Amino acid sequence: MTHVFPIEPSKDVLHPRDLTDADFEKFRRIIYDTAGITLNEGKKELLRARLGKILRKRGLTSFTDYLAEIESDKSGEEIIVLLDAVSTNVTSFFREPDHFHFLESTVLPALAAVRNQSGTRKVRIWCAGCSTGEEPYSLAVTLRETLPGIEGWDVKILATDISTRVLQIARNGLYPGDKFKTMPSPVVNRWFVPAEVRGEGGYYRVQHAIRKMVTFAHLNLHADYPFKGPFDAIFCRNVMIFFDRPTQETLVNRYHNYLSDDGYLFIGHSESLNSISHPFKYVRPAVYRKTGPASAERRGIVA
Ligand SMILES: C[S@@+](CC[C@H](N)C(=O)[O-])C[C@H]1O[C@@H](n2cnc3c(N)ncnc32)[C@H](O)[C@@H]1O
Repeated sequence: MTHVFPIEPSKDVLHPRDLTDADFEKFRRIIYDTAGITLNEGKKELLRARLGKILRKRGLTSFTDYLAEIESDKSGEEIIVLLDAVSTNVTSFFREPDHFHFLESTVLPALAAVRNQSGTRKVRIWCAGCSTGEEPYSLAVTLRETLPGIEGWDVKILATDISTRVLQIARNGLYPGDKFKTMPSPVVNRWFVPAEVRGEGGYYRVQHAIRKMVTFAHLNLHADYPFKGPFDAIFCRNVMIFFDRPTQETLVNRYHNYLSDDGYLFIGHSESLNSISHPFKYVRPAVYRKTGPASAERRGIVA
């Protein structure tokens, strides 16, 4: 499995025994209750290393004191700092490219045909757990490259994450050159502009045409959603892997309500809906589709 938390070398002065089993259990409970993220016993050292950095920064000498700060905080900010520290944000442009090929070859041409026919040239995509922005920007590039006459369409990609730290990077839209190694140069040249950071080159900035298609927002997937949808596609890839089965089941069934008829749900290729109960139809690996009374297939329109 690729999405394990990387264990960082411990540079702090706190000893492993300083995080007691009781405190570890409390952190685990807070993280699970708030974000649905499950940390097993094996993650104790990781948690100690990551939280150790916060303790050092604040001059705290015990995890118990840090827990007290979290528990007494009424603003909700402390929980966000904690979740920022434990979330794993690995991502890349056009990660799991099969999904982007499928969008390009099947989903978008069919959507364009149906919407052109109805005259409602609108597309809504939700990227849930967008991390530092590579995924929603890859979606925007795919839409730009695939939908003919996209300038005349109303296209919006909502990109959400629980971590405010990654959202800041995503909104900035500035990435080091090595992030683009696998992207064909013509695509890079069309949608990204060479940039300098602190006088050093080798960076690229997302072009305005792509950036304006994406709206970033802070959202805990286990909280209330301040929008109704419906979305034509929801991308929730490599996020549910951190949740236990009941949490995954609740989330997937919620997603069903936020999709348009015939809408698609994309999950990570190392994830599966096999062991949970859900109303989706399997389409291909890591792609599911909503089927409802008004589905296009029933109306005789097959994508
Ligand atoms: C491994 S990254 C996946 C990024 C991207 N979807 C991809 O596949 O490349 C997982 C992301 O899910 C976010 N996440 C974890 N739990 C979350 C929750 N309860 N609500 C919203 N986002 C969450 C993390 O902050 C992280 O950025």
